[in-house]
Amino acid sequence: MYRYDEFDAELVNDRAEQFRRQTARRIAGELTEEQFRPLRLMNGLYLQLHAYMLRINVPYGVMSSRQLRKLAQIARDYDKGYGHWTTRQNLQLNWIQLQETPDILKELASVEMHCIQSSGNCIRNTTADEYAGVAADEIEDPRVYAELIRQWSTLHPEFSFLPRKFKIALTGSPNDRAAVKVHDIGLIMHRNDAGKPGFEVIVGGGLGRTPFVGKTIRKFIETRELLSYLEAILRVYNRLGRRDNKYKARIKILVHETGTEEFTRMVEEEYTRLAGGALEVPQEEIDRIDAYFAPPDYRALPAASETLREKRAENPAFDAWVEQNTHAHKQPGYIIANITVKTPGRAPGDMSSDQMEAVADLSDTFSFGELRVTHRQNLTLTDVEQDRLFELWERLVELDLATANHALIGDIIACPGLDYCALANARSIPVAQEIATRFEDIKRQKDVGPLELNISGCINACGHHHVGNIGILGVDRAGEELYQLQLGGCSREDAALADITGRGFAADKITDAVETVIDTYLELRNDGETFLDTYRRVGMDPFKQKLYDAA
Ligand code: HEM
Ligand code: SF4
Repeated sequence: MYRYDEFDAELVNDRAEQFRRQTARRIAGELTEEQFRPLRLMNGLYLQLHAYMLRINVPYGVMSSRQLRKLAQIARDYDKGYGHWTTRQNLQLNWIQLQETPDILKELASVEMHCIQSSGNCIRNTTADEYAGVAADEIEDPRVYAELIRQWSTLHPEFSFLPRKFKIALTGSPNDRAAVKVHDIGLIMHRNDAGKPGFEVIVGGGLGRTPFVGKTIRKFIETRELLSYLEAILRVYNRLGRRDNKYKARIKILVHETGTEEFTRMVEEEYTRLAGGALEVPQEEIDRIDAYFAPPDYRALPAASETLREKRAENPAFDAWVEQNTHAHKQPGYIIANITVKTPGRAPGDMSSDQMEAVADLSDTFSFGELRVTHRQNLTLTDVEQDRLFELWERLVELDLATANHALIGDIIACPGLDYCALANARSIPVAQEIATRFEDIKRQKDVGPLELNISGCINACGHHHVGNIGILGVDRAGEELYQLQLGGCSREDAALADITGRGFAADKITDAVETVIDTYLELRNDGETFLDTYRRVGMDPFKQKLYDAA
């Protein structure tokens, strides 16, 4: 993985020291909360319902075992012994003491981590396919370009005060696992006719109160021109984005109000000024970064493992986990293993310090000491020998992290909601827990098939409810928590926004409503259809009837 150079190291250390002085001035009363607020937000420190919350960047979701151990220790020493993996491939700590934050930043700096630009109206952590570099379906490793974007966007002087926050996601594979179409900029890698890699550029996607699926404004930009093109987009946005209205300030509104064609024209015009200039990335620089992502020392192994086949035949629970939680690797004899942080009854994405340390050890033993955070709030070990998968699974069982529910109804995305978040209308975590418990039986989950269920505690949509195959949105109706149900959303390459079923459900009825939707789908589905396939074929009406007619 990428390593900081001396400038990176100096920068994050300086930032930690600067924040120490700012915090001291706040505690001494020399700064008011109003004056301090932008300073703390520049370091990812939010003030929430009960305490400060710190958002720590995991650049494009890639971290080392050493870094994970440090996160575990920080969560134990400075928080309540657990952390929360987020849809933006970051870690949030929910119970932080202000006076301890400078020490945390210092500790993070010691393992090449920080919280810069994890908040505020700037370019946030770029997110990427969690299988980057190892997926069998990949064109090229997108981490190289995610790293390039990190270097370009970190403390970019022109883009530190954008109209609103800005999120970029990218994938090197045609199968989008990074929800790129619901980001401010989404990048999908393709090859042109000459076989050169480049990116399709999608702009103006986003969730929140006005959700949009992004629009393709360029079918192909060569990799060396990527930064020039991104700069052109950001310049147009920085100049014309609606600074007058916070709710209309995201680039999606600019693209929508200007029209895709006119917006594209403006970007292309700006790009002609930038193309071939200082932002052109020479092949040597791409190669230099690429070297950091060189494949680890894989052993020469046969494509399929006999040991794995035997263990699967002997052990049905292991077999179920392999079927559900692993994915094809491009290296013969290796496999990608997903650790779902979705044990029924627990908060989705929450992991204790003990579990983090144990998983860090597992990544050393089984996966070259590297891990990924996924946008579905899980962790992935990317480089496991098939022969050793059973051993890994046994260790995960001991840690209560071997639930075979990856990409099934139990693998729920949920935002912190009213349990932590100052903006929430309703609780998300207990709803997720209840649904996961209701569908705890893995056989039943498998019978239901691939299904993404996403929950947000308010319209800001941090839990991606608009693009859940089933989405749940917490709303406040005259002081009562109600849950709106949405169907048919999708965050993949065929992204779509979900449709609202109708009036919302009370907290004690929402799980029943989800069950009704599932039962209706099971009645209606044709052979081999997923929930989304069936919904796309039959539409909303049959679901609506079942949900509301009996009431
Ligand atoms: C607890 C403190 C949090 C606060 C105060 C907060 C605040 C917000 C706000 C205000 C928006 C709407 C932005 C807009 O539409 O312009 C938003 C969107 C979003 N947040 Fe959060 N959030 C929090 C936690 C999280 C967490 C835990 C996650 C990940 C699980 C997350 C991921 C996202 C995502 C994915 C979006 C929607 C995508 C988009 O930007 O359009 N946030 N958040
Ligand atoms: S969706 Fe709303 S409730 Fe959930 S974390 Fe975001 S701002 Fe908070």
